[in-house]
Amino acid sequence: MSSLVRFGGRLAVRLRSLTRPQAVVLMAILALCLGVWAAAATGHQGLAVSLVAVLLLGVLLGILHLSRWIGGVYRANQTANREMRTVVEQLQRRVVATVEKERLSAGDRHQDLTRTITRGLRQSGHGTDLLLRAQSREIEAMFQLFQQFTPRAPMPSSGDFALNPTDLLDLLHLVRLREPRLVVELGSGTSSVWLGYALEQYGGKLISLDHDADYARKTRAMLAAHGLNAVVEVREAPLRELTATGKTYQWYDTQALDDLTGVDLLLVDGPPAATGPDARYPALSVLEKRLASTATVVLDDANRQDERDAVLRWTQEVPGLTEEQRLLGRHAVLSYSRTGAPVSV
Ligand SMILES: C[S@@+](CC[C@H](N)C(=O)[O-])C[C@H]1O[C@@H](n2cnc3c(N)ncnc32)[C@H](O)[C@@H]1O
Repeated sequence: MSSLVRFGGRLAVRLRSLTRPQAVVLMAILALCLGVWAAAATGHQGLAVSLVAVLLLGVLLGILHLSRWIGGVYRANQTANREMRTVVEQLQRRVVATVEKERLSAGDRHQDLTRTITRGLRQSGHGTDLLLRAQSREIEAMFQLFQQFTPRAPMPSSGDFALNPTDLLDLLHLVRLREPRLVVELGSGTSSVWLGYALEQYGGKLISLDHDADYARKTRAMLAAHGLNAVVEVREAPLRELTATGKTYQWYDTQALDDLTGVDLLLVDGPPAATGPDARYPALSVLEKRLASTATVVLDDANRQDERDAVLRWTQEVPGLTEEQRLLGRHAVLSYSRTGAPVSV
C-alpha cells in the first residue's frame, strides 16, 4: 500500500514537472485511449480501429521526433566536445609557453646573479687587498713615529677620529723641517700629544682648540700624563654661529684665538663633519690674518668632498695660498705666503 502511495507521489511530481507541450501530448494520448475504449465499449468497431490507427501514427511521429531530437543532441555534444578539446589544447599551449618563458627568464636572472656575485667577490677581494696595503702603510708609519720619539706614557691610539699614523708622520716631518714656533690645532686629541713631543724636541708651542669640554679635558689629562703641559695648551672653544663669505657656519668661539698672531703652522682637524656641511671651511677666513707671513696649513681628511672643496675655495680666495703635493696619508698641505714670495719647503 505504502509503495503504491510512493509511486503515486512520484507520478504526481513527474506530472507537475512536465512542460506545456508534453502535457498537451499526454492529454491527447489519454483522450485517444479514452476514445478507443468508449468506441469499443459502445460497439463502434470502425471508430475504435481508426482511433487506434491515429494513436499509432502519433506514437510513430513521436518516435521520429525523438530520434531527430536525440541526433541533434548528439551532434551538439560532439561540437561541444570539439570546442572543449580546442580550448584545452590552447590552454595547454599557453601554459607550456608561459613555463618556457619563465624558465628562460629564470635562466637569465640566474646568469645575472652569478655575474653580480662574481663581481662582488672580485671587488671584495680587491677591497681586502687595499685594506691590507693601507694597514701595512700605517704599521710602517707607526714604527717610524716610535723611532723618532720615546713617549713617557702609553700613547693614545691613532686612526678613526684621530690622525692616522701616516698623516702624523708627515705632520711631524713638516714640524722638523719647518720648525714652527707657534702651532694652532683645531680639534684636540692624539695629534696634540705627538705634536707636543715634536715641539718639545724642535722648539715651539701648540695651542689646541676643542669645542667639546669632555674631549678638551681628556686631551689635557693625556698631555699631563706625558708631561707636555708646558708645550701644549688646550683651549675650550664652544661652537658658535659664524658668517664667512655670506654663509653661516657652526665654528669655534673666535675669542679663543684673539691673542694669537704669527701662527707658523695651522692644523685643521675640526670641527667634526657632523656639526654641519663644510664645517672646516671658515678656518682660513678667521685665521688668515693670524698666520705668520709665511706659514703652513695642514687639513686632515682631504679625501672627503667637503674638505676637497675647502682646499679649492681657499686656494682661490686666499692670495698666496697654494697646495703642496703629498705622498703620504689623507691630509692636504698648503703653503702660505702673505707677500706672495715662494715658501721655502
Ligand atoms: C677629528 S677630531 C680631532 C682629532 C685630533 N686632531 C687627533 O688627531 O687626535 C675633532 C673633534 O672630534 C671630537 N672627538 C675626538 N674623538 C672623538 C670620538 N672618538 N668620537 C666623537 N668625537 C670625537 C673632539 O671634540 C675633537 O676635537
